[in-house]
Formats: sequence, C-alpha cells, structure tokens
Amino acid sequence: MKYLDVLGENCQELDMIDTFSKYLLDVNATTIFSTKLDLYKSPTDGDTTSEHPFVFHAREEFVFKGWKEMASLVLPNFVLKGLGDKKATKFYQNVIRHLLKDRRDNPGKKHHDFVQMLMDAEVTDRKPGDGSATTQDNSEMHHVNQGEKSLAVERKVMDIKIRDKRLTEDEVVAQGYVFMRGGIVPITTTLAFTAYELSLNPDCQRRLRHEISDAISATTGEIAYEVLARLPYLDAVVSETLRLHVAPLSLFRYPSADYRLGDTGITLKAGQQIEIPGYAIHLSDENYPDAFKYDPDRFMPENKHLIKPYTYLPFGGGPRNCVGMRLALLEIKICLAHMVLKYQFVRTPKTDVPLQYQRSIQMIYPKRIFVGIEKIA
Ligand code: HEM
Repeated sequence: MKYLDVLGENCQELDMIDTFSKYLLDVNATTIFSTKLDLYKSPTDGDTTSEHPFVFHAREEFVFKGWKEMASLVLPNFVLKGLGDKKATKFYQNVIRHLLKDRRDNPGKKHHDFVQMLMDAEVTDRKPGDGSATTQDNSEMHHVNQGEKSLAVERKVMDIKIRDKRLTEDEVVAQGYVFMRGGIVPITTTLAFTAYELSLNPDCQRRLRHEISDAISATTGEIAYEVLARLPYLDAVVSETLRLHVAPLSLFRYPSADYRLGDTGITLKAGQQIEIPGYAIHLSDENYPDAFKYDPDRFMPENKHLIKPYTYLPFGGGPRNCVGMRLALLEIKICLAHMVLKYQFVRTPKTDVPLQYQRSIQMIYPKRIFVGIEKIA
C-alpha cells in the first residue's frame, strides 16, 4: 500500500500483471514459507526486485510464456524437458527442504504457514465425515455449477479415511512446490482483469467501494474474514471476472469405464480424452445473455438461480476441481477490498480496449494490462 500511495498521488499507469504478480509472490512466500520478501519497496528506491532470488526464479519458472506452450504441441518430450527451468524448480525445492530440516532441528518453534501444516499432517488424525465440502461452502458463488447430487459425490470422496496417512518428505516438498506455483498465474490475471474491468465500469467500482466501506467494523477498522468472504457484490465482481476472463480454455477428463450419455446414442469410451470447452461455455449467449458484457449482477444472490448447473467452471468441477480455490478467492478478495477502498482504478490512454492477448492454446493470457490508479482523497 505504501508503494501504491506514492504512485497513486499523481495517477500512475501500472502494468497490473507486474504489480499483482509481486503481490502474489509476497503472499505465497508468507503463507507457505513464513518468509517476508518485501518486494514493494518505495518506487523511489528503484526496482531491485528482479535481483531477489525468489523473483528471479519465479520469472523463469512461473510466469506464463505462450511460446513454451505452443512448443509443447510440436516438440518431442525429451526436448520439452530441456526447456523447463530445472534451476528454478531445484531452488524452491531446496528452500522447502532447508525449512523442514531447520524446523525439525528446532521443534519448539511453531510457524503459521503451509509448510507447518504439511509437517503437522504427518500426525493428523482426521475423522471420516470431516470432508471439506460443508453446508457453508454451498452458499459460496463458485458452487453454483454443482447440484446437490454432485456435492454429495464430492463429500463422499473427501471423506476417505486418511487418518493413517503419513506424508513423506518428498510429498511435503511436492505439495509446497505445487502451492507455490499453482496460483501465481491465475490469481495475478484475475486481479489484473478485475482492475481493468473496474476501470472501464466506474458504476460497478463505486458500488463495490460502498459495499466494502459499509462492511468495515467501526471498532477495529478492519473487515472480518467471515464478512469479507460473504460480501455479495465483491463475490459477484470476482465471479464475473472469472466468467468473462476464464483462465484455462478447456478442462479435460478421462472416463474410467465406458459411459452412455443418456439417450443421445453417444458412448464415451474408457480412457478417451474428453475436452470440456470452458471458454465457449462461459461466453455463450445461451448460458449468459449478452455474454461479452461485464455484468456482476448475474452473480448476485437474487439471480443465482438463473445460472444453469455446470455453466460456471472457472475452478473446474467435481472431486478433481481446483484444490486452491478457497485460498485463491481469499487472496483475491482481501487484495481487492484493500485496494478499492484506497484507490480508484481509471482508464488511461495506455489502457488497451480491447485487450491484446498472447498466442496461446490453453490460457487467455494478456500481453499487458495497463490501468491508472488514483489515490482517493
Ligand atoms: C483464480 C485462481 C485459480 C484458478 C482460476 C484455478 C483454476 C483451476 C482449474 C480450472 C483447475 C482444473 C480443475 C478441473 O479439471 O476440474 C485447477 C486445478 C488445480 N489447481 Fe487451481 N486455480 C486457481 C488457483 C490455484 C491455487 C492458489 C492453487 C494452489 C495453491 C491451485 C492448485 C491447483 C491444483 C493442485 C489443481 C489440480 C487438482 C487436481 O487435479 O486434483 N490453483 N485449477
């Protein structure tokens, strides 16, 4: 915020992809490794962030590169393996191994981060029935795609008895690495696309700011997590961004057995690749009237029932949907709430309308998203 305060005084244009990817690295380093990166120095200090090993390796490894994705279509596997940045992967794996060793050597000290949760999972005794899909979850917008039948399957899958499960060190390292890597690109783009849409839709931005100001506690000056997670317009804004700018274009499934699709005469063969065209589903006028229009009202509680099951799939669906969904929504909402309260996103001559995209086969990834930010007096 201090960094933005300096820039916001004179309405600076910022590339939102760059701005939010630093935020994400900071958040990930804190939530996963309890490591403070402090990437947002004062702009007057100059940009020293690229020298930081976390940032340097993240740029190599986690930033979306359309050409690499295109190459995966034509190049054989052994060449593709050579294109992966092994140094970056090793760097993050070594950081986690080092932390594990350090914490085992100093067992008295407890840390509130993801690595600690994984270490604790080695002795966790989770009772069957503690499945993660709760009634409370059902009220969150991202479940609009799932009917009660599907949620029941999810609960059953989540209730597998894992009380005897122990994580090996390699598993802890792998999970830490997936969490480090998993959300950076989609969360960065979701935040950047939201800032972009709010700059083009000042009425939506005003309404969002009102809702958030009203939710701030008069006593603490903060927004409680339970309140933030349930703000209907904030949720609608994030949901509409995820619908209109859906990150993965398609989802894939492989049936484990032959499956007849009702009376359509179509049988899906076991092992056959099924592609679910998320982008086409989200941007079809049949599912969302005037589908290319940014309209958060579609996701307000009074309109929720109009959304057809399985037509809203930003996090996929069913038991193999995104494991990082709740964390992602939390990070996005906290960041937006704080920013919208203090700053105004505005359209500037550098704001591309329409946006320009990188060539890609699996993702909608913009070339740049320039938006102006003005400090609210
Ligand atoms: C806005 C942010 C995010 C979006 C839009 C997103 C989207 C998705 C989608 C569409 C899938 C495929 C689901 C399916 O096939 O049904 C997926 C899977 C996955 N995501 Fe995310 N994701 C986000 C954030 C995250 C975060 C923060 C993490 C980790 C902390 C994460 C980790 C994963 C993992 C591990 C899978 C594979 C799950 C499995 O195969 O069981 N994602 N995500």
